[in-house]
Amino acid sequence: MSIVFTEKDKTFTLHTKDTTYQMKVDEYGYLLHLYYGRKTNGCMDYLLHYADRGFSGNPYDVGMDRTYSLDALPQELPFQGSGDYRSLAIVIRHTDGSYESDFRYKDYQILDGKYQIPGLPAVYGTQEEAQTLKVILEDPVSKVQITLLYGVLPEQNIITRSAVIQNLGDGKIYLEKAQAACLDWLSGDYDLLSFHGRHAMERNYQRMEIKHTAQIIGSRRGTSSHQYNPMMILAEHETNEDAGSCYAMSFMYSGNFKGEAAKDQFGQTRVLLGLSDELFSYPLEPKESFYVPEVILTYSSMGLARLSQNLHQCLRRHVCRGKYRDGIRPVLLNSWEASYFEFNGESIYQLAKQAADLGVEMLVMDDGWFGKRDDDNSGLGDWFVNEEKLGESLGSLIERIRGLGLKFGIWIEPECINEDSQLYREHPDWILSVPGRNPVRARNQLVLDFSRKEVVDYIFEKICAVLDQGKIKYIKWDMNRSLSDCFSRQTVDQGRVSHDYVLGLYDFLERICQRYPDVLLEGCSGGGGRFDAGMLYYTPQIWCSDNTDAIDRLQIQYGTSFGYPASAVGSHVSAVPNHQTGRVTPLRTRAVVAMSGTFGYELNLGSLMDFEKEQIKEQIREYKQYAGLILDGLYYRLTNPNKELVGAWEFVSEDGSEVLLSAVMQEIHGNMPVTYVRMKGLSSGCLYQEMDTKKVYASDALMEVGVPLPEQMGEYRAYQMYFRRVE
Ligand code: GLA
Repeated sequence: MSIVFTEKDKTFTLHTKDTTYQMKVDEYGYLLHLYYGRKTNGCMDYLLHYADRGFSGNPYDVGMDRTYSLDALPQELPFQGSGDYRSLAIVIRHTDGSYESDFRYKDYQILDGKYQIPGLPAVYGTQEEAQTLKVILEDPVSKVQITLLYGVLPEQNIITRSAVIQNLGDGKIYLEKAQAACLDWLSGDYDLLSFHGRHAMERNYQRMEIKHTAQIIGSRRGTSSHQYNPMMILAEHETNEDAGSCYAMSFMYSGNFKGEAAKDQFGQTRVLLGLSDELFSYPLEPKESFYVPEVILTYSSMGLARLSQNLHQCLRRHVCRGKYRDGIRPVLLNSWEASYFEFNGESIYQLAKQAADLGVEMLVMDDGWFGKRDDDNSGLGDWFVNEEKLGESLGSLIERIRGLGLKFGIWIEPECINEDSQLYREHPDWILSVPGRNPVRARNQLVLDFSRKEVVDYIFEKICAVLDQGKIKYIKWDMNRSLSDCFSRQTVDQGRVSHDYVLGLYDFLERICQRYPDVLLEGCSGGGGRFDAGMLYYTPQIWCSDNTDAIDRLQIQYGTSFGYPASAVGSHVSAVPNHQTGRVTPLRTRAVVAMSGTFGYELNLGSLMDFEKEQIKEQIREYKQYAGLILDGLYYRLTNPNKELVGAWEFVSEDGSEVLLSAVMQEIHGNMPVTYVRMKGLSSGCLYQEMDTKKVYASDALMEVGVPLPEQMGEYRAYQMYFRRVE
């Protein structure tokens, strides 16, 4: 039993394989958080401390007891109205205009299996794999009920949190803040690890001590954004990759979010993650319910590598779905950096032909095939094939490409529209914009109002009509701007629009998943602008960044690896000089970096020399040999490429029998000292053979001192070594 309710001390205890989480209903019916950390037993309410604190108020019914204050006690879901002045998870504006609530315990339920959330992505697990705890709280005055949802996946060391807010009163209320996860620590000093960035340079790692200043990350862009990733890690100061306590919180949502971390007046740390309260004021009529998007939690007492592995396994096995969840993804060639908007059916076919000769398995036709679309100023919204440009029908092009033995994939951007499009001329009122005001343009495009069902239905139908023209095996779903002017002509409650937009997006994606179960979906938003656990529920891979430069990718993929598995990371070999940076790196290096994700190419094969084509054939053979290990193995960061000369990482099979080590030198100097890369995760006391040189090494020495990288002249050299345990 992973969830236990103990009547005597009114505690709920959630156990996973290595962790324990505990909360308690106290004598006043408040739900207090007691513990989250390494596995333990017993009741931890001895940790609570009661003291008379000046300016920390007391709930009315504690009477004259000035030592009881929710401003100081750790809570499961802090709300406005309790006398807690710290950052809160729940704020409700009631019918009478007041913001005060008083949520007290009412009931609970323990169920087998993992709860699901209508219309929203959620971790899934069977009755054997997971349990659900529901804790019902009620505000007696407004009759608003909150059902806290906890999902426990013991094997994965995962706990999820969500909530349903029900308006059981008789007036309309507004949710002003609704976040699923709060973690309160009574003691300790922590660092916050967060991942910030920009277009073409996403998920840069930052580690900062949590002090008496709120550290806030988030997005008000309508997408989860390039600028901050909705995933945060808390670690003790001493925690490193291999040792120490740390916690991860990953938000399964692709829109506006907020993460907050701060110490309170007593040095206690509070961290919140969930929906942003900015641009948010969600109406609930009587009898209506609101599902609060889910947060995934995990804890590791063994450092950051294990923490990331917990998240990786959860996302791979309990979030991603469909045929490609476990399947090896086809090696693809994408037309974008090969020819941008300048192509026709014949040039795509020729690209596919060259790709087929090299062993590529799928041709993806990127932006430019629809409407009037020869640059990024027109055509979005017109989801019909530009047969004049292609010089043939889509069906005929797909058949010709299939004739080469290749699968065919296509790019779409359903959420946006250009003013220069037929659709805009017909439905100028379908965009997000405020009547009487000009909307903000970005990439010269506007955003369709996906909070409106008729808009979603229309685009869905048009896109399906295209997808049904031939055997399409892959869709790249793009979104190339941030939302603005979040005003919908369909509602008077504009504070609901950005969330309803995300629900519309998820509805569309779900329908695509249901209708085309064999199609591989890749998410994208100008690269990694919507790289989150919510999207992974629909698209098992996401184009990691528009930056394909192998050296920049070391940092981007390093940051990404903290929260997301390699199987989610879209990664391609592109041309040199690189189109984003102008940097020249060896073809081998570009492949080694791209192989740590869903491997593919994105360049004009016609401009390659013969020896490069031979190299590509070899790379594809190599990738296919390692793909299982890369997509499903345990991932170890061996260095920090932001700080060290070498970027190095490793995939280890779960049983420890196979290891793939990758390393890229970022600098070269005269008379170079030797670089040793210390390996991780090997079976101790064993021998491992490197399969290229056939050299045999002792595992403990590989982990203690490392393997020396061969000395090679030239910039940005990459090394890949494949080891097998000697049985
Ligand atoms: C975005 C994507 C690119 C490419 C272009 C096409 O920037 O991230 O990979 O598809 O759009 O316009």
